[in-house]
Amino acid sequence: MPNPLDVFRDNALAGHVAIVTGGGTGICRGIAAAYARLGADVCIVSRKQDVLDAAAAAIATQTGRTVLGVAADVRQPDAIARAVTATVERFGKLDTLVNGAAGNFLAPAAALSPNGFRTVIDIDLNGTFNAARAAFEALQRAGDGLILNISATLHHHGTPLQIHASAAKAGVDAVTRNLAVEWGRFGIRVCGIAPGPIADTEGMRRLAPPGEVGDKARAAIPAGRFGTIDEIAAAAVFLRSPAAAYVTGHVLVVDGGHVVAAPPLGMTL
Ligand code: HXC
Repeated sequence: MPNPLDVFRDNALAGHVAIVTGGGTGICRGIAAAYARLGADVCIVSRKQDVLDAAAAAIATQTGRTVLGVAADVRQPDAIARAVTATVERFGKLDTLVNGAAGNFLAPAAALSPNGFRTVIDIDLNGTFNAARAAFEALQRAGDGLILNISATLHHHGTPLQIHASAAKAGVDAVTRNLAVEWGRFGIRVCGIAPGPIADTEGMRRLAPPGEVGDKARAAIPAGRFGTIDEIAAAAVFLRSPAAAYVTGHVLVVDGGHVVAAPPLGMTL
């Protein structure tokens, strides 16, 4: 399969400066690497400095560009504000915020503690608002601002064992639409990406491990396969590019058709 990032010209994102929360691992590390590969200056943010250092080193080897890593918990507004300040000090501005930090685990609602529910809401939903709020002035100042919120498709249906993450991601999509309406006048677009099942991510290792569960999950996807991190990164590059200059308030589902596939009712193709 060709690498989807190969369609973008070299330096397509030169001159942009991005913070990517959750950029130490998984999908958001892939977005950070794609942005760096295409010439953007990037700061990755997550809780653990050692994870950030390893990711920054790997991205530097891959792309030849230095990536800043700032440890901050998105649940702490002051910490994420410090990451914004560090990014602006280092790169001179901030015009792009990718909100990808997320927590998740499988738990039946009847066994989930209120603190477990609150913890995921706090990371995914409150963290998205905290980071957007902290970045607002810098994004407005830079001009051509973009906030890109990474959600999911869990909340498009009732998803078992995922009440906390589904509620959080539904809220994230609402934040995308509301901020698009409020902040358009400040030159800030606000978009979302809702990834479906993506291979080589912590989420899929937990939700669809290899074997029977993973095989069943794959069979439910019209595309017949899990997506790749680079396919999500390509969507993130498109939304950052001038090709998407008139796109705001939209959540782009990238899921191989998974969410529009009706429950099979026993019929098979
Ligand atoms: C039930 C659990 C639990 C589990 C934690 N809790 N893990 N409950 N089952 N497996 C409960 C705890 O008991 C506690 O409640 C509360 O949650 C807080 O847990 P802590 O460990 O104290 O919190 P913290 O250290 O802040 O860690 C939060 C975390 C984190 C969410 C559990 O470890 C984490 O984020 N792990 C996974 C990261 C991850 O997979 N990211 C990718 C997400 S993928 P009590 O009541 O006991 O105090 C994604 C996409 C979804 O989001 C879509 C996929 C298709």
